[in-house]
Amino acid sequence: MNIPLKSLESPAGDIVSPGLEGVVVAETVLSHVDGAAGRLILRGHELEQLAGWSYEAVLSLLWRDLAAENLDEAEIRARLGAARMAAFERMTAALPALQGLTQVEALRLLLSLLPDTETERHHLVAVASVPVFAAAIARRSRGLDPVRPDARLGSAADFLRMLHGVEQGADKVRALDTYLVTVADHGLNASTFATRVIASTQAGLFSSVIGGLCALKGPLHGGAPGPVLDMLDSIGAEDNIQPWLSAALDRGERLMGFGHRIYRVRDPRADALKRAVAGLRDTGGRIAFAETVEREALALLAERKPLRPLQTNVEFYTALVLEAVGFPRESFTNVFAAGRMAGWTAHVLEQDRVGRLIRPQSRYVGPMPV
Ligand code: COA
Repeated sequence: MNIPLKSLESPAGDIVSPGLEGVVVAETVLSHVDGAAGRLILRGHELEQLAGWSYEAVLSLLWRDLAAENLDEAEIRARLGAARMAAFERMTAALPALQGLTQVEALRLLLSLLPDTETERHHLVAVASVPVFAAAIARRSRGLDPVRPDARLGSAADFLRMLHGVEQGADKVRALDTYLVTVADHGLNASTFATRVIASTQAGLFSSVIGGLCALKGPLHGGAPGPVLDMLDSIGAEDNIQPWLSAALDRGERLMGFGHRIYRVRDPRADALKRAVAGLRDTGGRIAFAETVEREALALLAERKPLRPLQTNVEFYTALVLEAVGFPRESFTNVFAAGRMAGWTAHVLEQDRVGRLIRPQSRYVGPMPV
């Protein structure tokens, strides 16, 4: 049976909206996405302002008055450090079980080790665990042992250190921090909604955020930056940019890293990440090459689709940032989860205060008993 994709009014008068577009199911103080104006606001701050903050400072902002105690940036940094050490101890015995799993499936399995009975500081534990697990998973895929966390470092610095085995330069740490902040929260996207639905059943914070990760895993949500790099690799050289892009558009293909369902003007997250990329050393001219691809792609899209403004989206510069700081493409979704864990945990804390089970309805279109 074909399910119609637009809202339908049934004979009984109820509206069916399979994608829930335009349906408001929650009030939130956490973030606001204004697609027409190209604005993303997190608790009263424009994303552009927050892009210079540390990830811990943004956690402090998002968790404020929702968690049991208000912690400042320094306190969160210290507690996350301690929680990373505990996550490492918890993880090591489980590593052999990851055999044969993709990186995001492996993260899902390791997060399942966290018991929902552990409710004290569970939001801190969830946020601290992801970089530890994701770095170990990425290293394991290259046949390398996990690296023990350094509790004195900030989340971004230690994430890179656990990935590479040695501390990375301040430019890379700053770029990753900007990435984690940029993706920290984004309205009621699919994974955040999934997280809130589970939280509303009082299943527990860890179960809720694992549900968020499961939603993020889908290619329609968290999986686009890898294909951006595939596109850059396939174009290969400067003199191939124009012909490659034109041929792709002639075939009716979409250019990866351009266009957005909500943003009709430039995605503010793309701008924040573009600035982060500008602060990095351009190894092998990759960034300059990507910028030329971006310019040519925008010119071609404006020419071919004059009625549909298509701009660079967050995935284009995400791909460049994560590649430049050394993450393998197969781990990009896990790094996204490390950033979005800020939003997921804050939404669980907020949903707990609402205390209302989320339980929509379906319209029965099957046969009636005779
Ligand atoms: N490259 C080429 N054309 C594109 C395009 C892209 N990246 N994105 C949209 N278009 C075109 C469509 O082909 C369509 O053209 P048509 O009207 O001639 O058929 C028009 O723009 C409108 O497309 P629509 O399907 O309404 O856009 P959408 O809002 O549903 O799609 C995306 C949003 C993100 C799914 C889409 O832009 C896309 O596929 N982008 C590439 C993948 C990507 O970067 N994803 C990460 C998103 S954060």
